[in-house]
Amino acid sequence: MGTRKPLLSDLICSASHVPSNYIRPISDRPNLDEVQSLQGDSIPLIDLQHLDGPDRSTVIKEIGQACQNHGFFQVKNHGIPEAVIHNMLAVSRGFFKLPESERLKSYSDDPLKTVRLSTSFNVKTEKVSNWRDFLRLHCYPLEDYIHEWPSNPPSFREDVAEYCRNARGLALRLVEAISESLGLEREYIDRALGKHGQHMAINYYPPCPQPQLTYGLPAHADPNVITILLQDDVPGLQVLKNGHWLAVNPIPNTFIVNIGDQIQVLSNDRYKSVLHRAVVNCNKERISIPTFYCPSPDALMGPAPQLIDHHHPALYRSFPYSQYYHNFWNRGLATETCLDMFRTSSS
Ligand code: OGA
Ligand code: NI
Repeated sequence: MGTRKPLLSDLICSASHVPSNYIRPISDRPNLDEVQSLQGDSIPLIDLQHLDGPDRSTVIKEIGQACQNHGFFQVKNHGIPEAVIHNMLAVSRGFFKLPESERLKSYSDDPLKTVRLSTSFNVKTEKVSNWRDFLRLHCYPLEDYIHEWPSNPPSFREDVAEYCRNARGLALRLVEAISESLGLEREYIDRALGKHGQHMAINYYPPCPQPQLTYGLPAHADPNVITILLQDDVPGLQVLKNGHWLAVNPIPNTFIVNIGDQIQVLSNDRYKSVLHRAVVNCNKERISIPTFYCPSPDALMGPAPQLIDHHHPALYRSFPYSQYYHNFWNRGLATETCLDMFRTSSS
């Protein structure tokens, strides 16, 4: 590896300027002064307390509205214990505080590895780097992957596994609710995902001396089914709404949920995956932990037949999820979504 430091967290300790490979062209900068910082109702906050009771249909309606109008929502009373969330955040901080030599045991540039620590987005294909290090883990079925995970900090596997089981439980409840909200059978999307998949990233955004010049992650839509984001108390996530970027400020013990490209495909464009990005700041490091709930690689994705008729022709051809996923990583993050490569001529 020579003397060059692969990870951003080891490079930046003393920097007062961002290195030139992180600087975006003027036309592609975050323009942080123009970002609106709306609280509360900019992104709906949905109470899941009554999802599994007599008021289920009311909650399903709220979820459907949020998916249709925003592509993003927040959830409270989601059933994941505070201690599980606390331990997940604590062990993530612990991991990124480990000595460089310990962290680098997990380092890889290959996006197809099932566990890897890396930096930016895809260092093999991108021209400008992003102000982020990340540990990415496959986590379903747990038994297939847990032995590959870092074993330091000592409670890493146990704490992350507990979080993953809980996040999966929540993802399944949301997937059922989204299925119903589309007028499909409760199990429709569940079945469409084949054997299912679940990945997670632990994103570490160090403080940045010039946050106006770079991104933690530039605008993108997520390629998977739904994403459940856990973030610490430092703002950084922004969502595109009517052509404007909105900052989504963290609310303790809530998760942010967003529709991924596969729900857009399954719903035949009734629900859209929405562009979002992460910006960085001068003062504080930030940790965010998205759970990417996905189809298994062999699952055939396409619009639900019940949502196709004479007036609503199929807008996507069917494809194995693995094809979509490879495209996502190879193409690099770009505001034109990967979805365009899978559209039919009717769209
Ligand atoms: C992602 C993502 C947002 C964040 O990892 O796909 O959108 O706030 N992260 O870190
Ligand atoms: Ni994302």
